[in-house]
Amino acid sequence: MSRGAGRADAEPARPSFGAVEIITAKRDRHELSRDQIDWVVGAHARGEVADEQMAALAMAILLNGMDAAETAHWTQAMIDSGDTLDFGDVGRPLVDKHSTGGVGDKITLPLAPLVAACGAAVPQLSGRGLGHTGGTLDKLEAIPGWRASLSTEEIRAQLADVGAVVCATTPTLAPADKRLYALRDVTGTVESVPLIASSIMSKKLAEGTGGLVLDVKVGSGAFMKTLDRAGELADAMTAIGAAHGLPTTALLTDMSRPLGRCVGNGLEVGESVEVLHGGGPADVVALTVALASEMLALAGLPDADPAATLASGAAYEVWERMIAAQGGDPAAPLPVARHVETVTADRSGVFSGADALAVGTAAWRLGAGRARKEDPVQAAAGVRLLAEPGAEVRAGTPLLELHTDTPERLPEAHRALAGHALLVTADPPAARDLVLDVRRAG
Ligand code: URA
Repeated sequence: MSRGAGRADAEPARPSFGAVEIITAKRDRHELSRDQIDWVVGAHARGEVADEQMAALAMAILLNGMDAAETAHWTQAMIDSGDTLDFGDVGRPLVDKHSTGGVGDKITLPLAPLVAACGAAVPQLSGRGLGHTGGTLDKLEAIPGWRASLSTEEIRAQLADVGAVVCATTPTLAPADKRLYALRDVTGTVESVPLIASSIMSKKLAEGTGGLVLDVKVGSGAFMKTLDRAGELADAMTAIGAAHGLPTTALLTDMSRPLGRCVGNGLEVGESVEVLHGGGPADVVALTVALASEMLALAGLPDADPAATLASGAAYEVWERMIAAQGGDPAAPLPVARHVETVTADRSGVFSGADALAVGTAAWRLGAGRARKEDPVQAAAGVRLLAEPGAEVRAGTPLLELHTDTPERLPEAHRALAGHALLVTADPPAARDLVLDVRRAG
């Protein structure tokens, strides 16, 4: 299967199937044919297959799986349900990254301008957060004036001029995925590796990037809790990339602890700006540079030096232009929460670190995230970690701050952190590797 060889070009006579025969085929563990997949994905996107039938098929896929060929065809059918973008004329090699989502995962913010400062173009079409992991657009919307929605021509112009765009995905990009993802969300069918992999890859392939780096998170704060499951997802996505001729590399990275010290929209923007000024937490800097190196290799710029570029301030200059191009004021003060409460150690010992899921859930409860996609988020809400893992603490030493505009949410945040979320132990924590594995197709 090659990129751009979508079915829409030829517009063949479409075979028509019954949804029930496709559901029962997958229920009985048969491989679906390319024609069956094309038909059912397209017909659901057009409203010709009912949601309850697609939900039954999604459950059959969750239980019985799809092989690599079925998953690649499923991805192509979702791409073919909408438009594809082509930014091949912007004068720089195109490369993008996707993270499967983590707590404090603000890496896109320093990464996109850094990779642009090194000579590539980054067309990062992003989503909003749901649940305990934040969304990149929610973070950037904490910047006064910043606008997420751009037209295709605005994206093209910004890629040519600045080299980096982070904006909302367009409604016509893989619309079949939008409909199916909403259905999976309410039918317990999100956690299927072929469905997750095809959902993510259809959007990245439709966006027209020339190379893709995947940051597949592993641990309590991630979608995938174990290295095995994360490896399975990484392999499924790199295989789709290979089947579609898209050079794709996956890094499996630790998400047992939050990334950096800040979790929450405006707080994460502030921390990203520190990184762009050559400072910031060591784990955020290290992961930003590791992902940038992989992206630059895929973009055909292996000699670029992302660590030096970050330290030089050149990436910050691109950030300023990237934010201003979308109406934001990079110099404007970030919103500050009306209430800040400090959580302290309940005993003396060594602080082993904060659990990613507990901190992500606390930030979400404080108002940084949403439970339903129509909910608003608070720009200033979140958690700031004060103690470094490995620090000696006494009972009463401040460990973290809770930030919110709505103090009635504080008890829920405390509940999320109760138990073993903030470990104070007798022994220092084991050293943790940030990058756990690298997967490439083929
Ligand atoms: N993110 C996506 O875009 N799709 C999924 O299925 C899961 C996470």
